[in-house]
Amino acid sequence: MAILITGANGGLGSAVVEAFLGTGATVYGADLAWKHQPHSNPRFHPIEANLLEAAECDRVAKLAAPVDALLHLLGGFGGGQPVAETPDETWDKMLGLNLRSAYTIFRAVLPGMLKAGKGRIVAVGARAAIEPIANFAAYSVSKAALVALVKTVALEVKDSGITANVVLPSVIDTPANRAAMPAADASKWVTPEAIAGLLVWLASDAARDVNGSAVPIYGRA
Ligand SMILES: NC(=O)c1ccc[n+]([C@@H]2O[C@H](COP(=O)([O-])OP(=O)(O)OC[C@H]3O[C@@H](n4cnc5c(N)ncnc54)[C@H](OP(=O)(O)O)[C@@H]3O)[C@@H](O)[C@H]2O)c1
Repeated sequence: MAILITGANGGLGSAVVEAFLGTGATVYGADLAWKHQPHSNPRFHPIEANLLEAAECDRVAKLAAPVDALLHLLGGFGGGQPVAETPDETWDKMLGLNLRSAYTIFRAVLPGMLKAGKGRIVAVGARAAIEPIANFAAYSVSKAALVALVKTVALEVKDSGITANVVLPSVIDTPANRAAMPAADASKWVTPEAIAGLLVWLASDAARDVNGSAVPIYGRA
């Protein structure tokens, strides 16, 4: 099995890489830059790429081919102003990181999956996709649009042996969130390991009949 994980060097990435290596798969981890290489496992292959660019997505898809499963973790968080005060940069950045990146990498891996007659696409959305957050319109809208994109792909591939699903975490217990919210009760947050377990299952044969789902994974937040 060849697994492609985007945003693999981020806060959630390590646990997801670890979980898929644990299944015996060959894992390709794509990120803007590998600031560190935490996995010395010979089945782990780090790739550096800007996944907002179609040509880079095509290059990554070729390097990892044949891709059995794409785990699209890449995304970003930003905002903090009401719509009336939101700068264009925030809007464009959120739509780029959370939506365009999905469109470009899905488009790069789908032809290979369609040819193989099998494949799994699982994207990481956010709770805000279905419960928008005041002052974070660009983030909420970009994650809602990601859900629409995944559900559209799911319809398009439903007779092809491919599935496309999205998971919707609430706050994840990452070092960055602990640093940003030192007074919060982190025990209520969902762990990267719990999300990784759900992704492994959604990418497995056992999940063949789950297509087009948006799965909440909130911990107790
Ligand atoms: N953390 C949370 O509480 C939370 C909650 C709900 C949903 N989520 C979602 O969960 C996913 C993972 O979150 P996370 O906390 O692991 O995020 P993260 O730490 O920001 O990881 C995202 C990774 O993607 C990389 N990246 C950014 N732009 C890129 C590009 N153009 N091409 C390739 N890689 C790029 C980032 O690199 P740089 O660091 O160099 O920019 C970073 O390593 C995201 O989709 C996020 O929206 C997170």
